[in-house]
Amino acid sequence: MGSSGFAVFSAEENELLTRTGPGTPMGRLIRRYWIPAIRADEVPAPDCPPVRVRLLGEDLIVFRDTRGRVGVLDQFCPHRRASLFFGRNEECGLRCGYHGWKFDVDGNIVDIPSEPDFQSWKVKPTVKAYPAIDRGGIVWTYMGPPDKKPAPPEYEYCLVGDAHRYVSRRWEDCNWLQGLEGGIDPVHVPFLHKYELSSDPLHRDTVGAEYTGIAHMMFDSVERDYGVNIVARRDAADDSYYWRIGQFLYPCFTMAPPYGDNAMGSNAWVPRDDESFWRWIVSCHPTRPLTNAERGMMSEGKGTHVRVDENLRGLANRDNDYFIDREGQKQEKTFNGIYTVGLQDKAMQENQGASPIHRRQDEQLVNSDKSIVMVRKRLLAALRDNEEGRDPPGLTPAHQRIRPATLVERRDVPFETVARHILHTREGVPVTSI
Ligand code: FES
Ligand SMILES: [Fe+2]
Repeated sequence: MGSSGFAVFSAEENELLTRTGPGTPMGRLIRRYWIPAIRADEVPAPDCPPVRVRLLGEDLIVFRDTRGRVGVLDQFCPHRRASLFFGRNEECGLRCGYHGWKFDVDGNIVDIPSEPDFQSWKVKPTVKAYPAIDRGGIVWTYMGPPDKKPAPPEYEYCLVGDAHRYVSRRWEDCNWLQGLEGGIDPVHVPFLHKYELSSDPLHRDTVGAEYTGIAHMMFDSVERDYGVNIVARRDAADDSYYWRIGQFLYPCFTMAPPYGDNAMGSNAWVPRDDESFWRWIVSCHPTRPLTNAERGMMSEGKGTHVRVDENLRGLANRDNDYFIDREGQKQEKTFNGIYTVGLQDKAMQENQGASPIHRRQDEQLVNSDKSIVMVRKRLLAALRDNEEGRDPPGLTPAHQRIRPATLVERRDVPFETVARHILHTREGVPVTSI
């Protein structure tokens, strides 16, 4: 790999990587895993209003029944396709607002008022339903082949009490993969987020934030059976290195290296369709509850969170140029003219080229894009496995009990030794972070 760049991805590979609708290879890959659908508190109580959500190009409805169980169905009623958003959530089922057909959380049709004998019909109507589960403050769904449903997810934030995490979900206006690639791109941090390293209350005043401000670093990426380690190494004081180790987990999850005793950030980049995605952030501290002050800052858009409207779209967005402040950009207050880490990322990711689907065939990649190149290659390999009938990686809970880390270590300690014990979930042991 020379200074003139490397690894050009073709238009065909770009199509494979970015298209996730029903019947596409990447769509089939992502459908092999449990994915986040909505926050659990969006359906807070039995028989509360149902919630519409688009996932992987499919329009769905999520509801919580009288017994507290969650269900994910086709948003449109199988009869004459009325939206179940207008349904009545009552007596252990969602009843269509048009002619009263009623469905339970497992997708059984339990009542057709105009056809009292329908249960005895030879050919009965059916409704599209996907398995759903409440875990880690999230309603998860599985949209893949029923006989291939994996065990429920065990990301660390699924294993801790509610007091240890803060969950946000927001709508982003571009293809899911360019979003995810922003989450595994170590070199943008000391540039795009330069000023937040010393101003954001969820980053600043940590040894890590100070070192992360150093733009010069060595990049590496290490293939694991669960995903990819995203490694950045900087020279630190006293003949040591500062290591930042992020994670990519199949098929659409990343973990950002933390700062000091702040919560670690787990991300999911879930396609809404091919031109928009759901950005999930779970801020989780495994060994202590989050403070009210931390929750307040997260809800105000600090850390990587963003303030959103009732449709979960950023208040700052492409239409208002993310409230750009050109004067602040000149005065060294903001690198790209935008404030807060989450909005800085959003602005960059949503405006890569003129199309909402970034054209990788037009890029000129360099050394610092190593981790992005590796993740694309691993995704293409996983997709091939799945297409050829082999299980893709990362389906087992052990492959989800993974952590990021940051630390300072003597320069003569090799990476595999540095990383040996710190990249897996350890109950009662804090995340390795400075
Ligand atoms: S369209 Fe839903 S019951 Fe007729
Ligand atoms: Fe970023």
